[in-house]
Amino acid sequence: MNEKFYLTTAIDYVNGAPHIGHAYEKILSDVIIRHKRQLTDKAFMLTGTDEHGIKIQKTAAARGIEPKQLCDENFSKFEKAWQELEISYDKIIRTTDEQHKKVVKQIFKKLLENGDIYKHSYTGLYCSGCESFLSPKDLTSDGLCPDHLKKPEEITEENYFFRLSKYKDKLIEYIKTHPGFIMPSFRVNEILNQLENIEDISVSRTKTAVKWAIDVPDDDEQSIYVWIDALSNYITAIGYDTENPSEQFKELWPADVQVIGKDIIKFHSIYWTAILMSLGLPLPKTILAHGWITIDESKMSKSLGNVIAPHDVLESFKLEHPDAFRYYMASAAPIGRDGNYSDEDFKEKVNADLANNIGNLLNRTLNMLVKYFDGEIKAESITDKNSKIAQYAQNAKNQIIESFNNYEIAEAAGIIVSFADFVNKYVTETAPWTLAKEGKMQECSEVLYNVLEAMRHIGIMLYPFCPNISKDILIQLNEDLDFKYDKLEWGIIKEGKITDKEKIKPVFLRLDSEFAIDKKKGK
Ligand code: ME8
Ligand code: MG
Repeated sequence: MNEKFYLTTAIDYVNGAPHIGHAYEKILSDVIIRHKRQLTDKAFMLTGTDEHGIKIQKTAAARGIEPKQLCDENFSKFEKAWQELEISYDKIIRTTDEQHKKVVKQIFKKLLENGDIYKHSYTGLYCSGCESFLSPKDLTSDGLCPDHLKKPEEITEENYFFRLSKYKDKLIEYIKTHPGFIMPSFRVNEILNQLENIEDISVSRTKTAVKWAIDVPDDDEQSIYVWIDALSNYITAIGYDTENPSEQFKELWPADVQVIGKDIIKFHSIYWTAILMSLGLPLPKTILAHGWITIDESKMSKSLGNVIAPHDVLESFKLEHPDAFRYYMASAAPIGRDGNYSDEDFKEKVNADLANNIGNLLNRTLNMLVKYFDGEIKAESITDKNSKIAQYAQNAKNQIIESFNNYEIAEAAGIIVSFADFVNKYVTETAPWTLAKEGKMQECSEVLYNVLEAMRHIGIMLYPFCPNISKDILIQLNEDLDFKYDKLEWGIIKEGKITDKEKIKPVFLRLDSEFAIDKKKGK
């Protein structure tokens, strides 16, 4: 396979610093794109920041600074966080980028020319947390926004409206006939229900209400309201232009997957799709809505004030690289469901899976290879692809691809851990130390070969989650750092010396182990 794969993430509001909920989405996305890169050279990941709107305007005003200064400050925090988590995006877009602003105006103009945007006076309830008008039936019994627990403001304005109602039937038809379009599928009915009552939406605000925005073309009094601006990033970032779209745009669009949180699924599966229909562009293959990362089972958000920064987690556990945190986040919940973060649970999970299950297995086996065979693989110990372990590896590979195709990322992680479990049991059952004691050296060397070859597979399979640990596994095995899936064939480890006593190092230290603590003290 060398097909293109285009993944986008939601673009984060820069009215605050990134928290582990934002990190969750970017890690999930990065795990997906790294997996796709194991299969194709043409995988592209876009992320970015959403920099206009009333929230940013107000936050900046409260601090007495210009909105752009606030954006610059917070943008660097996001950029730094993604670097620290090794998010391997190909492009990061800011909605204040000149090219983006230029093309958003073109898009607005084109929708206007198509007759899909018109001017209309309107009174409604506006939630600045959502940057959206809410209908009275969306509110809690106390009249609050259910996501932000704030009372929306009543606003009367003359605004531009997008003729969403025109696309209602087409959207319903599309969603019903494209089962993989909204994932997970348990969200489909909720969207179809919302579509039943869909009305035209406001796509501009007066400049007196919102100054910090892209101007409506040829109208001095109106600003483009954030969602048309924000959603368009997915195409402006790769060179869309209503006149002259770039080669990159033609190659990458439509997106293969657009990863977002469940709170903004309506904006993506309804508003965005209707905008694309109006522009005459193909729709993304999948809109993937993940759940919340909660703390003590309640949603973490800037508005609720209970946030943990990803850096704090790495810092408090003195992690040398982000792998453990990436692994934990990516396996936090089945896709679409909420996952809870706690320090205790984090420690327990990564110690069990990465240190004990995978790390120890490699370490013990390499030590046996040194003890019994001077660190060397003999030609006659190389097993063939019909061995039980080789077959297991082959099945695991196919299942992982399948899980990724369904965007079941936690499930893919589970398959790797089960594989390691299986290999651990195999070692216990075959007891290579007993074989060595009894002088059955041929059998013993075959067992060790099977385990090391399985570890090589695990190193490659784990790569999207834990790029550093994976690299260390392959280094310990004296193998090339090539993580492509065509290396998931049995028998790649060849005869010859792999290691010696001094070279063997644990690939992941238990958190809070004595060894790890010494290491933190710089010993
Ligand atoms: O919604 N757990 O920006 P945002 C998991 N700018 N995901 C979370 C989360 C949590 N606790 N909190 C937030 C916006 N997210 C818009 C998007 S896209 C064209 C514009 C997710 O900063 C959230 O669901 O509020 C969204 O996908 C992303 O982080 C950015 O949220
Ligand atoms: Mg939000």
